Amino acid sequence: MKTFYIRTFGCQMNDHDSERMAQLLVMQGLRPVESPRQADLVIVNTCSVRAKPEHKAISEVGRHRQRKQAKGTRIVLAGCVAQQEGDRLLSRAPYLDAIIGPDSILQLPEILPRIENGHGPVIAVDLHDQRNPCFVPLQEKRRGQISSLVTIMKGCDNFCSYCIVPYVRGREVSRPLGDILKEIESLAESGSREVVLLGQNVNSYQDPDSEIGFPGLLEAIDRQGAVERIRFTTSHPKDLSPQLIEAVAGLERVCEHIHLGLQSGSDRVLKLMNRGYSATEFVQKTESFRRAVPGISITTDIIVGFPSESEQDFQGTMEVVRSVSFDQAYSFKYSPRPGTAAAKLPDDISPQVKAERLATLQTLLNQLEAQSLARLSGRTLPVLVEGSSTRDPDAFRGRTRCNRVANFTSAVAPPPGKTVEVRMVEARGHTLWGECSLTSGR
Ligand code: SAH
Ligand code: SF4
Ligand code: F3S
Repeated sequence: MKTFYIRTFGCQMNDHDSERMAQLLVMQGLRPVESPRQADLVIVNTCSVRAKPEHKAISEVGRHRQRKQAKGTRIVLAGCVAQQEGDRLLSRAPYLDAIIGPDSILQLPEILPRIENGHGPVIAVDLHDQRNPCFVPLQEKRRGQISSLVTIMKGCDNFCSYCIVPYVRGREVSRPLGDILKEIESLAESGSREVVLLGQNVNSYQDPDSEIGFPGLLEAIDRQGAVERIRFTTSHPKDLSPQLIEAVAGLERVCEHIHLGLQSGSDRVLKLMNRGYSATEFVQKTESFRRAVPGISITTDIIVGFPSESEQDFQGTMEVVRSVSFDQAYSFKYSPRPGTAAAKLPDDISPQVKAERLATLQTLLNQLEAQSLARLSGRTLPVLVEGSSTRDPDAFRGRTRCNRVANFTSAVAPPPGKTVEVRMVEARGHTLWGECSLTSGR
């Protein structure tokens, strides 16, 4: 096998796992290619958070099957569906060469020769509720990458009743603070200007070797000063402390953005979801944030059609959404996941009602997002340059501190990694467009 192609579904944990797999393969002498047609090895890194991404991933694998028959392409299914289904997948997809769970990706170098020699299928789906091996940083430096993902913890202990993540990613384990700082130092040396700290519930981070929690970790990275910007995702509202609000307000490098899943605005539904907060508490925490951190962007995730959700419950969600005025949001129809507590409740909201509620909610969320973007138009904001715009090759692309993508024109090409002042002119779709008056590229 000489070439590989990885297709990634799901969240940033999976994006990061795919980066790690790619590096391991490169270290084994394989070369990444742009299309599965050119690849000797295809890895599909899957997500099982809802039925839809799960089905998409399975049908993606199915599409590569003919390639295997025609030219012997090896096919690996990795990620959360691998973890959830394990060898049961073989009855649906007997042509798979390997099924590799998220905690087993470091075994790739040993698995490769086995699948190359046709000794598959290899099943590697043990969950490791310990520090290693999932925190082993990438060996090779990620050169030229302006924003880098850094895992600070793995797993989740919250068991929200609808969610598969605790089952496919195992128990919460925090990574030692010293290791995190070392990785960030090395990323900065190879050109990263921003880190995105990753965990399913970063607020419950706890350094295993000291008393330091998440706000302390942010302070340590800020003090280290290796990168210009610090982001993190995701936070659980129940664990959001006044200390975290203070850290975001007071630490210069920590960006003004928080992703805080609301899920529902009805106390009755929140209780059934096992979320551990009330709608009022959620609203109060976001108000404290907006008072302490002017201009902070608050984004969220919302589920409609949870079992037994009444019209009144749904209106409760609409009310909280209006009151918080989210800057951006992802919203989903409830999808029962095997083995979760909610899967035992009847999935009693009809597909039609789910679709109607989702459409109503998304109309409101889109209006709020347009308002949020309109508030930024006319303002001049610092943008960390990532490269050329994907929409217009003559323009450039970066992000504001509040995590908005900004496309902009500039007479002089600003080098990636530089922070420039951009005057925002208008919003198109989800992005801002502006002008930069840079006169020298340095
Ligand atoms: N740890 C993150 C969430 C990760 S899953 C957090 O707590 O914020 C991403 C999102 O998928 C969740 O926030 C939720 O809105 C949605 N989700 C998870 N399970 C779901 C299900 N069974 N049906 C519909 N949406 C779901
Ligand atoms: Fe899932 Fe809840 Fe954990 Fe988020 S906090 S990953 S929604 S169980
Ligand atoms: Fe999906 Fe797994 Fe992430 S289920 S959302 S890829 S942790």
